[in-house]
Amino acid sequence: NQPKNHILVIFGASGDLTYRKLVPAVFDLYNQNLLPDKFAILGLGRTDLSDVDFRAKMKAGIQQFALNKPDDENKLNNYLEKLHYFSFDTKDPDEYCLLKGKLRELDEACGTDNNFIYYMATPPNMYEIIPEQLAKQALSDESAGFKRLIVEKPFGYDLETAQKLNKELLKYFNEEQIYRIDHYLGKETVQNLLVTRFSNGIFEPLWNRNYIHHVEITGAENIGVGNRGGYYEGSGALRDMIQNHLLLLVGLVAMEPPTLIDSTNIRNEIAKVFHSLRPIKEEEVAKYAIRGQYTASHIKGEAVKGYREEQGVAADSRTETFAAIKLFIDNWRWAGVPFYIRSGKMLPTRVTEIVIHFKSTPHHLFANDASICNNYNQLVIRIQPDEGVLLKFGMKVPGAGFKVQNVNMDFHYSDLSDTYLPSAYERLLLDCMLGDSTLYHRGDAVEAAWKFVDPILKAWKNDKNIPVHGYPAGTWGPEVSDELIEENDITWRYPC
Ligand code: BG6
Repeated sequence: NQPKNHILVIFGASGDLTYRKLVPAVFDLYNQNLLPDKFAILGLGRTDLSDVDFRAKMKAGIQQFALNKPDDENKLNNYLEKLHYFSFDTKDPDEYCLLKGKLRELDEACGTDNNFIYYMATPPNMYEIIPEQLAKQALSDESAGFKRLIVEKPFGYDLETAQKLNKELLKYFNEEQIYRIDHYLGKETVQNLLVTRFSNGIFEPLWNRNYIHHVEITGAENIGVGNRGGYYEGSGALRDMIQNHLLLLVGLVAMEPPTLIDSTNIRNEIAKVFHSLRPIKEEEVAKYAIRGQYTASHIKGEAVKGYREEQGVAADSRTETFAAIKLFIDNWRWAGVPFYIRSGKMLPTRVTEIVIHFKSTPHHLFANDASICNNYNQLVIRIQPDEGVLLKFGMKVPGAGFKVQNVNMDFHYSDLSDTYLPSAYERLLLDCMLGDSTLYHRGDAVEAAWKFVDPILKAWKNDKNIPVHGYPAGTWGPEVSDELIEENDITWRYPC
């Protein structure tokens, strides 16, 4: 199944995303012969660059970030020949007419049949201008060739702005043309959640409130905000990681089996989960959500800056770099089962994992099994790194008596030595080229996710009595986040 001939038009082509992710990912597709015969990339940006300059810059990006290292110089040069650049001021409506001319010229030269994918890799304040101006030039018109629009995150800033953005986009493109990207959906291990759940007879019968005690989802990073302080100040962990990536994982863990593995059915089920999230009222936020901010510390003997000392961050910033939430899904399958989710920067390690904690046996027969009963029978789904699945269960300690200990049944993707794990952008770009939106968010689901986080955002903004807890960089966030998991013997898992 090969995509149709087309041009990938990247708005914001002089930025980091294009350099580190997009152009290297398309190179990976090219390297596996997954691109159509006739294909071009048109980079658009305000920086004045010639095609030659753009290609030289992208070559460096490919060498550093492509998964398939370009060892064949000819092949790399053939790919670079497909890259073109056009200096363009996105904000200026008059320039879209020039863009139309450029696209017509390139389309004729390359034989790409008037099929265009527009990728908005610009700051989000451009998201309303670009679709409108494209439409004004009839560049969203599909009467001759497809026109698809990829929208990068952040999709809105809160519920109101997300609704407004959806409305605006739908004035100029229809829902089938819009691809709202969340790179977590492009991760192989995230997609594998569907396979783990729905292709194994042993898990699904237990996958409900009768057998599951609680679910824990962690998205931990061991880096700070780096040079993204300016962006992050207006975002914070809740907007940056939880509203999109972590809630998506909640959706995939909690969804009902779709009737078919296709865009409509999968996206319907995810949206249903988001609609079933129990709203947290503004006045209850302190009980269900914790926020924190990393402070200066020493990691392995080296001094590390606190968030407030980072470039572009206010000295009295209250932006959270850590957030933990306890949530419930009010439906038949999950009634009463708490989901604990947390994400933070400058934690001890980089790990994203989902832990399904099964209920213990109703009666404890063995001497010490009560003391560890809450720690065994966990299914750990490791999204990254060291991708894999781990099942923990109790076994007899050899020797006298009946002592129980925890053991692991462990699968690592790395054990499949010849397996190539495509990058998230590679997978998602290919899907868009094929016209498959299964792994892209639908507008209603994005709004439902915002609806859930909105009261938390509001309470954190308005209620100065809700503390922003400091936590030393390199630790697992504020200690009070343990209090979210109230019951005895239950704690967060601290993966190393
Ligand atoms: C991005 C966030 O969406 O996801 C970043 O803006 C974060 O702040 C990144 O670092 C994490 O992605 P991954 O794939 O490294 O888990």
